[in-house]
Amino acid sequence: MPMAPGSLQFDLKDRSVLITGANRGLGAALCKTILQYSPKIIHAGYRTAPGDFEDPLINWCQLDIQDEASVAAVAASIDTLDVLINNAGILMPTAADPVKERANLEAMMDMHLHSPLRLIDALVPTLQVSNQPMIVNMISMAAFASVPGCEGYCISKAALHAATQGLRLKHPDIHCGGVYPGPTATDMTAGSTAPLADAMESAAAILSGLCERKTAIFPDEAALAVESLVGAGVATLEQQFTTLLSD
Ligand SMILES: NC(=O)c1ccc[n+]([C@@H]2O[C@H](COP(=O)([O-])OP(=O)(O)OC[C@H]3O[C@@H](n4cnc5c(N)ncnc54)[C@H](OP(=O)(O)O)[C@@H]3O)[C@@H](O)[C@H]2O)c1
Repeated sequence: MPMAPGSLQFDLKDRSVLITGANRGLGAALCKTILQYSPKIIHAGYRTAPGDFEDPLINWCQLDIQDEASVAAVAASIDTLDVLINNAGILMPTAADPVKERANLEAMMDMHLHSPLRLIDALVPTLQVSNQPMIVNMISMAAFASVPGCEGYCISKAALHAATQGLRLKHPDIHCGGVYPGPTATDMTAGSTAPLADAMESAAAILSGLCERKTAIFPDEAALAVESLVGAGVATLEQQFTTLLSD
């Protein structure tokens, strides 16, 4: 359940939110959970088909983040925006054939790095009109160490992690945060034997972290274990590097 309004540093009430890949998985869980905060509107992006849930506050919009025309059309259609959640993602397992593996890596770099950055560039002017603009990138705890069988995915998420730090430098007027989930029960992990977090529980934790304006959100048990190993160190380094080349 949402936190009491008085304790929020950021209140989603009456906010305009865009979520990519909102039709299923963590994106759908985020959509449904944000509704509990009484937003102004949720622009719920879908690539292939809208989700199987409806609400007067949900505006389903076709958005293939890898398609420039689709990104431009959605950016042009949104008048006000407070929160952009770059959630859409894809996991292509490591391929034995190096040519196929390089193609997969290219596809995931496009999906997790170039396309979110293009969408951000298109929406920054609209976000900057908000009194508390926010960009939230769905990264992964696998950004911090490679996982066998999905090395390319980890590379692309590490790139998005670095890009999120870069966005904080580039757009100091916009709160830019990263979410680092562990394995979560969605289509992406179908067939996995790993313990899986519940998507709705993770969505609740993500939104609590967002309202606390955290720059790094670790929304489940596996992610919290990663945070205890690297969280403080990564945050300290990021701070130290801001003056690395200025002396
Ligand atoms: N599940 C996990 O264990 C886990 C862990 C860490 C991080 N994450 C990250 O969390 C995010 C959500 O993952 P999930 O588990 O919810 O995945 P999912 O269930 O596989 O859903 C992926 C979503 O991304 C959308 N999508 C794919 N390509 C797109 C494109 N070009 N343009 C727009 N939307 C596109 C899909 O739309 P369609 O329905 O049209 O395909 C779908 O809505 C991803 O970034 C993922 O990497 C997931």
